[in-house]
Formats: sequence, C-alpha cells, structure tokens
Amino acid sequence: MCKFLTCLVLACLLFSINVCAQAIEMTIDASKVGPKIDRHIFGQFAEHLGTGVYEGIWVGLDSKIPNTRGIRNDVVAALKAIKVPNVRWPGGCFADEYHWRKGIGSKRPQTLNPNWGGVIEPNTFGTHEFMDFIDQIGSEAFLSINVGSGTPQEAAEWLEYLTTDQPTDLAKERAANGHQVPYKIPFLGVGNESWDCGGNMTPDYYLSQLKVYNRFVRNFNPAQRQNDQMLKIAVGPGGDEPRFTDWTETIMKAWKDRKWSWDMQGLSLHNYTVVDWGKKHSSTDFGEKEYAEILKKTLEMDGLIAKHSAIMDKYDPEKKIALVVDEWGAWYAPQPGSDPGFLVQQNSQRDAILAALNINIFARRADRVRMANIAQMINVLQAMILTDKEKMVLTPTYHVFKMYVPFQDATFVPVRFEAGTYTHGNITLPRIDAIAARDKNGKLWLAVTNVDPNREVEIDLKTPGISAHSFSGETLVAPKVDSVNTFDRPNTVVPKPISAKAQNGKLVMNLEPRSVTVVSVE
Ligand code: AHR
Repeated sequence: MCKFLTCLVLACLLFSINVCAQAIEMTIDASKVGPKIDRHIFGQFAEHLGTGVYEGIWVGLDSKIPNTRGIRNDVVAALKAIKVPNVRWPGGCFADEYHWRKGIGSKRPQTLNPNWGGVIEPNTFGTHEFMDFIDQIGSEAFLSINVGSGTPQEAAEWLEYLTTDQPTDLAKERAANGHQVPYKIPFLGVGNESWDCGGNMTPDYYLSQLKVYNRFVRNFNPAQRQNDQMLKIAVGPGGDEPRFTDWTETIMKAWKDRKWSWDMQGLSLHNYTVVDWGKKHSSTDFGEKEYAEILKKTLEMDGLIAKHSAIMDKYDPEKKIALVVDEWGAWYAPQPGSDPGFLVQQNSQRDAILAALNINIFARRADRVRMANIAQMINVLQAMILTDKEKMVLTPTYHVFKMYVPFQDATFVPVRFEAGTYTHGNITLPRIDAIAARDKNGKLWLAVTNVDPNREVEIDLKTPGISAHSFSGETLVAPKVDSVNTFDRPNTVVPKPISAKAQNGKLVMNLEPRSVTVVSVE
C-alpha cells in the first residue's frame, strides 16, 4: 500500500496529472465596488505600416473586394463586433512624418514612408477616409499629431480643418471635400516616442514642445466645448530605466506647476512584450520554453505601470491624468518571406493568453489606466485581423477582445484566489489569472485564464452575498499553445460555449489547459 502511495505521489510530481491537481477556490466579492474599467482600454492602433491600412482597411473604390467608399466591408463587420472604442492613427513613428494636407482633396501626392520599408505612401487613405472608417465601425478618433517634423501651425490647422463650425477657409475646404459639419475628435496624441523615433528629444525639450502644441492646437467643435472635451495625451515613458522615470517626473512635475495656458489629460506608456530585441521569438515556431518566457515577460507590464503610477501619484494624487498604454502587445520576428519593415507576424493561442493577462492588468489598475491601444489592429504585430487580398481571418487575440466586450465600462469587482503555480524550467508563473466586473445592467462577469499549457484546472467559485446558481459564456481553447488560425483553417482557435449549474451549493468550473474563459454568473 505504502509503495502504491509513493508511486502515486511520484507520478503526480512527474507528470502533473489532472487527478492530482487541487481545485482553486475563487471568491467574487460582489458587495465591493472598484473603479470603472474604461472601455477605452480596448482601443486599437492603425499605423501606415506594411499592409495595416492599405489592404487591411483601404482597398480603394475600384476594388473587387466588397467595400464601402473604399473601406473593406468584411473588416468593418469584424471590428464592429468587438466594439472598438477608439483607433489611434496615423502612427506611431509614421505620425511624426505625416503631413495631413497631402491626404485630403482630389490630388494626392505619392510620398515616402521612410520608417516602414521606405515604400510609397499613396496618401489615398487620409483624414476623411479615416473619419469615414471610424464612423463605419462605430468608434472614436485618437489622432496622433506630428511634433517631430511638423509645426504647431500645421497641427493647429489640421484641428481647425476638422473641428470648426465657423465659415473659415479651412472649414470651407473641409465642406468642399465632402464633410460640412465638424468632426468630433475626442483624443489627441501630442507626438509619438519623442525620446526615440519621434525626434530623440530630451524630456525638457519635449516639455517645451508639449506646452506650445497644447496651447495652440485647439478643438473648435461646439459639441466638445462643455462636454466631451478633447483629451490631450503627452508622450510618456517606454520602459523602466532611469531615462524613462526621469521623463515621467519631468512631465508630471511641470503639469503640477502648470499655468492656465496649457494642460493635458493623459500620459502615454509604450511597452512591447519582447524577450530579446536582438533575437526575437518566432510567432509560430516555438515550444513551451518560449511560451513561458514570453508570458513571464508580459507580466512585467504590471510593475512598469506601478512604477510610473507611483511617480504620477506624487504630482497627481487625485489621478486626474490617465496613464494611456497606447502601444502594447507581442513583437516577434518578421514572418519568413515578408518585408521586415512590415512587421508581419502570426498570432497564436499564446497571444490570446498574453492579451488576456494584459487586459487583466489594465483592469486591476483601472483607477490610473483609462486607455490602451494594442499594436496593431490589422496585419501588423499582434493583430486582431489578418488579410490576404479578398481573404480575411480572425486571430485568437481578436476572440479575446470579443469575449471581453462585457467588461467595457463595467465596474471592477474584486476576486480572491490563490493562483497556484505553473513551472517550466526555471520559470514559474501564476497558474491562473482572473478578473470580475459588473456591467451596466448589473450582470456579473468573470474572466479566468488558465496559463498552464498542460493541466486542466478546477475552479470552485464562491459569491458571498449573492446566490449564484449558474454560469455561462465562452472558452477559447486550442489544440496547442502555438495553434493559429490561417486563411485555409480559420477555425482552429475559436471560442466554444461553456456553462454549468451549481451543485451542492457550489459552482464548479473546469477549465482546459492554455485557455481563456469569460462567463456571466447568474
Ligand atoms: O508599432 C510599431 C512602432 O513601434 C510604432 O510606430 C512606434 O511608435 C513603436 O516604436
């Protein structure tokens, strides 16, 4: 008997078989109310880069691909379904070389895109096309203005062109180009990575630019004068090194000491998940080692946010300034055979898990993180959608964004659990992660990620104070961590329904290995 038990224990240790796994107790404290999880943390980013805009969104009026005014219908329908709250455009590094006048009117010059492959920029997708796209998908515009190679006057005129209701020459030009009424511009990014591709500026130099741009680049839309005022987002840090903590200090201190003539409402943070910039992981050809490495790396997002939030708290204890994580996601080696300047990568179940972990981090820090933009929306980096001519495929990351829709503008509700551990080699990670929230209709939602790629997990759910009798929702599972959706096999990774009723007063969830699950608790 003793021998048998020893063998069983050994077998458990060696093979981590499910029967040995302890259930994880999870308690949703529905009586406690946290901050709102701003829907804008589910924002997207569309840069003129590779086929992100041209092909991914814009196919042109004469295309055989079904389109509405040049914008592909399949992509619009897919994006509508994930309720994209805002889209950041036109860059990225591209924004600091973009001159908006080249992208309006009937004569569009061919220019260059030196940042991304040095290819021709046809300027056929410009201001009006972007605003039409935003309208078609039911989203809001987050414009990045050119601080690097533009002027305050150029940016001020762009905003006048877009937003004034007065009969100025620029407003007349806008009307002549097809839009009589002012556009709504809720978000303005003042430069991009000004410490690097945006002009290699010092914090003090950027600060001077910020003050000038924030003073003169105005939104004139009468509908945004009292309510819905445009939020101005300053360039913020891109890491945790001293040069970046100095950056946050400089901007936040200046904001605290500001005079009436300038203000800002957001500070940006960029953080990509990359293990080694010199030798990036493949997006398809990887094993459990790389799976564990990437997830370990991505969890550093939390510490990074904490570090910069602590600096912000010193100058802004009331948390008036939002931390805007307007570039995040996994950055892998370019797909073999693709133009390295186009940042093409596949998207696997590993990325679905990575996306869920980051969204959970943003939600837990919702008091400060009120906006985020995954990089990038289509065909670039950790995309929602991949296209190839008339074909389109939805990625595992897309499905996570769709499953998390109920969390948009929901109220954070604390969840308690002992996560347990998942270990591979010398890397140990939390075995599970979870967040909960109450939506506007009072419905309770729970999202649980089973990080462990090998072991199913049983969650025993308790909801003190409310009698929960069932849960139902969807679970995103995949045959392997490197499973992907392709144009030929688009349904390898798709959500499937999951539900159960309480038994003996207990709600039990059995979650498959390497899965993301979102359910409502009734
Ligand atoms: O998303 C790709 C690039 O990454 C952006 O253009 C830039 O801001 C960042 O370095």
